[in-house]
Parts: sequence; C-alpha cells; structure tokens
Amino acid sequence: MDQSERFSVDFCRHDSTVAHAWARTPAEPSAAERVDLKGRVRSLLRAQDATLLAHYYVHPDLQDLAEETGGCVADSLEMARFGHEQSSRTLVICGVRFMGETAKILNPEKRILMPDLEATCSLDLACSAQEFVPFCDAHRDRTVVVYANTSVEVKARADWVVTSAIGLDIVRELHRRGEKLLWAPDRHLGRYIERETGADMLIWQGACVVHDEFKAVELQALIASHPHAKVLVHPESPEPVIKLADVVGSTGQLIRASRESQSEEFIVATDGGIIHQMRKLSPNKRFIEAPTAGNGATCKSCAHCPWMAMNGLSALARVLETGANEIRIDPEAGAKALRGIERMLDFAASRTAPARPRGAQSYGDAYAHGMGPA
Ligand code: 13P
Ligand code: SF4
Repeated sequence: MDQSERFSVDFCRHDSTVAHAWARTPAEPSAAERVDLKGRVRSLLRAQDATLLAHYYVHPDLQDLAEETGGCVADSLEMARFGHEQSSRTLVICGVRFMGETAKILNPEKRILMPDLEATCSLDLACSAQEFVPFCDAHRDRTVVVYANTSVEVKARADWVVTSAIGLDIVRELHRRGEKLLWAPDRHLGRYIERETGADMLIWQGACVVHDEFKAVELQALIASHPHAKVLVHPESPEPVIKLADVVGSTGQLIRASRESQSEEFIVATDGGIIHQMRKLSPNKRFIEAPTAGNGATCKSCAHCPWMAMNGLSALARVLETGANEIRIDPEAGAKALRGIERMLDFAASRTAPARPRGAQSYGDAYAHGMGPA
C-alpha cells in the first residue's frame, strides 16, 4: 500500500480516539483536594519505594510533584535514562504509554505504574507491528530506525530506537557509515532529519496530532506582530513551520534554549504544557503558544496532547494505593526492543546533544553558538 494512503486512513481513525481521550481528561480538583492529593502521593511514594517521572506535557501539578519528590520532569530520552538509574522498586510514569513501556523494557525487574494505561500516542497508533514488520522485511537492505513513540513490538523489529533529542545525531552517524535507512513513524521528523543529514531514508507516513496542526501562515503573522520573539519548534512539526524556527529541538532542548537565550519573548510550537517549565526557569520572559489549525471545536488538539492530558492527580494517588495500571509487556519482545534502546542510550552517553539554533548546521555546531549542554 502507498504510504500516503496509509496515513490518511490512520488520521481519520484518530478522530474518534482523540475524542475518546478528551472525554477521559480528569476533572480539575479543587484547591483543597489538590493539597490533600499531593500530600497522599508524597507519602505513598515514600511508603512504596517509588519514584515519579513526568513528561513536560503533563499537568503542572504532576511536573511539580515529580521535581519536589526527587523524581524528574524531562523529555523522553532523559525519562528513559533517569528511570534506568533509579534504585527504587517502582517507577510511576506520568506521560504516555510508550514511555511506561520503555521504562519496563529497560527495567524488567521493576514495577512500572501509570495513571492511565489508555494514554497512547497518534504515532504509535499509526504504526502497528502487523503492518510495520512486513514493510521492514520488504526492505532488508535498510537499517531500521524507529522513534521511541512506538509499541514494544515495533521497537523489537528496529536496529535503533531514537528520540527527538538524539535522532539527528544518530542518523548522521549511520549515514556517515554508508547505511541506508528505514525510518518510522513520524514523517515530519523523518523529513527534517533527512534534509539535515542528506541520509537515504525511506519514511513511514505517521504524524503527531498535536504538532501536525501548527500552521506556517498563521505563525508568520504572529512573528510579524512579535518581531523580537524567538521561535522554538519541536521537529514533529510540518516543514514550513520548522523553516520559521530559530531553534529546533526536543522538549528538553527547547526549554534549555529558552533559558539560555538573551531574548525576552518566545513563540513556542509544541504542546503548551512545556510552558510551565519555561516560566519556572525564566519568570520574567514571555511565552506565546504558536497558532494551530483552528480554534476551539475546529482544532483536534489546540496544541495540547489529548493523551498526556489523561494523567491526573487522583488517578496517580489511586494507582499508588491499589497497584492498578501496572505496565506488562511480552518479555521476549521486550528483550528484542532493549537492543535498540540500549544502543541509543550508549550513543547519548558518548556525546551531548544541545538544541540547534538558527545558523548552526547541527547540534554539534550549536556549541559554536553558545548553546552547549545544560
Ligand atoms: P520529546 O522526546 O522531545 O520529549 O518528545 C516526546 C513527544 O512525544 C513529543 O510530542
Ligand atoms: Fe504522541 Fe504527539 Fe502526544 Fe507526543 S504530543 S505523545 S507525539 S500524540
């Protein structure tokens, strides 16, 4: 099947799954309930020998709790790395399912809990192992590189697993070695890396429902009315949006760029949840969400991931109390998936990957622009 055809089928399928996810968004607790829930979570984490890890897109309460309790709030690469270093018996992952599964693959002996096991990702949904494995089999001359936003079974078929923080550097290295690549599932990130590296990449046509909605024309108008603002873009965004960026990078890299830049104002093209950390680190700077396809009822995500939004304080307390929502994976698939993830972590340990400011040709060049690692 032609890949663009496959994409349009999957995107229609997302309409109902996105609506289902929004319907499961937990209600905001009252101020008194929040204090009570946070206190319960703190003591449960201690009692259960558990560490809380949160992604930058989840509710600010969860991000703050993770930091306050000695866990971490991070991008998907750092969540995987940090979780692997912990001695605690339980990891609680506030994010989406692939993040919990990655933690389980890396730490099969640990108990991995999540507030809602139905918190998926449109990239994962757009790339089933049933379709992906035969596709790889038909292109055996290519090294298979998959984004972390995939199932255990898709990762098990990969030679490398990457995240947006390290994908560009890994592909550049594979291209240098003369390898031809098969990339899945995010088409925008794949095309961005292909443009930057010149690698020969056969690209699966998945997309993120959040980043796919950012629009260049509207962004251009916003830039015109905020001429001094720096534009920060996650590489899951469409090419015309990436072309307007001052900095392209993972969530962690964009946060670092916002902190280190001399600029007072930023336009942010990624999930709006990230702005919580940006404001904490730079309280005097101004952050503006980039425009999406529509407003209210006419946009699917409005720059907020419906699955990240499923994580809430009361579900977090409940899973710690009951042990519900434990991530379980097929151990054989997990062992196979581990190879690609370990390769990525080893590669990341051997170098650092700062965000790429405008004018820099690579993350490596970013050092020359004063954007070194945190
Ligand atoms: P990061 O790895 O940059 O945190 O991205 C994860 C993700 O799902 C972005 O949409
Ligand atoms: Fe997946 Fe997009 Fe949500 Fe990230 S923001 S978890 S890529 S749907």
